[in-house]
Amino acid sequence: MSTDRLDIVRPDDWHLHLRDGEALASVIGHTARRFARAIVMPNLKPPVATVGQALAYRERILAAVPAGMTFEPLMTLYLTRQTTPEEIFAAKASGQVFAVKFYPQGATTNSAAGVSDLATVYPVLEAMEQADLPLLVHGEVTDPAVDVFDREKTFIDQHMVPLRARFPNLRVVFEHITTADAVQFVQAQDKHVAATITVHHLLLNRNALFDGGVRPHHYCAPVLKREQHRRALLAAATGGDARFFLGTDSAPHPREAKLADCGCAGIFTAHAAIELYAEAFEEAGRLDRLEGFASFHGADFYRLPRNTARMVLERRAWTVPDTVPLGSSVCVPMRAGSQVPWSIVDASAG
Ligand code: DOR
Ligand code: ZN
Repeated sequence: MSTDRLDIVRPDDWHLHLRDGEALASVIGHTARRFARAIVMPNLKPPVATVGQALAYRERILAAVPAGMTFEPLMTLYLTRQTTPEEIFAAKASGQVFAVKFYPQGATTNSAAGVSDLATVYPVLEAMEQADLPLLVHGEVTDPAVDVFDREKTFIDQHMVPLRARFPNLRVVFEHITTADAVQFVQAQDKHVAATITVHHLLLNRNALFDGGVRPHHYCAPVLKREQHRRALLAAATGGDARFFLGTDSAPHPREAKLADCGCAGIFTAHAAIELYAEAFEEAGRLDRLEGFASFHGADFYRLPRNTARMVLERRAWTVPDTVPLGSSVCVPMRAGSQVPWSIVDASAG
C-alpha cells in the first residue's frame, strides 16, 4: 500500500521515559502532541517504588503538560527488593498504576535499585498475578561474561522461560525487544505475553553505532542488533499480531551525558515518534497496519478503552533540529539534522 496521507486513531506510547523536574517540562510536549497516553517508566532517582510516589509523580507530569494538550500518564512501579505484596494490591486499587517494571540490577540507566534475581521476589509476583497487574520486563542478563549482544537471548532462556512456567497467569510485557529470538519467544506464548518494539530498533541495526566513527546517540539498552534481527522486529510489528505494540523507550539524556567517557544509554525519539514509525511501516509496505500497532494492540492488552480522537499524517518531509531543549542543557534527538518523510497534519488533542 502506498499513500501520502494516513488517518489513524490517536496512538499511545506503551513505554516512555519522561524524567522529572525541568527535563520533564522540556520533553512532555513532544509526547503529548502525538500520544493520548503513555506508560511512564519509574526509573527516576530515587525510583518510583511506592503508590504514593507514583501518584505524586503523576501530578507533576500533569502539571507539566502544555496548555491546550490532553495527555494521560499511566503510572508504573519500580520493582525493588523492598516491594511488598501489599503495595501491589494498593497499586491496583489506586486505579492509576497499570504495571510494575522489572529492571535487572545494573542492566541500564538508574537500575541500581533493581532486583538481581526474580526468584527473590516471587511473593510479589504472586500478588501481581492475583491482582492482574502486568510485569514489564527489561529482558537482559547483566552477567559480564555474557556478550552484550547475546544478553536478551540469554535472558529468555534463563529467566523468561522459568517465569512463564511458575506464573502462567501473570501478564508480562517483554519490553523493547531487539532480537528474532524474542519475537519467536513471544509468538510461542499465549495471550498473557506481549512485547513493545521501539522505532529505533525498527529503523537501525548495529552498524548505526559505528557509521564512520562511534555514534553515541545511537547507543541504547538493549543495544542495537544485527540486520537480521531488525528485519524480524519489522516483520513482527507489521504482521498484524496483537501481541506486538508501540513503545518508544524514548529516553532523553543531556548531550554531555551521552558524550562522556562512559556515555548513557538512551535514544530520544519523542520529537518524531509516530512519524518515524510510519517510515518503518512504509518500508515494510504495511502502512495499513500502523494503526493496529500504534493505537489498538496496546490498549487491548492493558484492557483500556481505545482512543477515539484521530490523528492525520501526511508525506511531507521536515528536518529534525540538531538539538532539542532539555532543562538547562540540550538533547540530540534521533535523526538530528536530517529529514523525516512524514509530518503530523492534525494532532487533535481531543
Ligand atoms: O536506552 C535505554 N535508556 N534503555 C533503558 O532501558 C533505559 C533508558 C533510560 O532510562 O535512559
Ligand atoms: Zn525504557
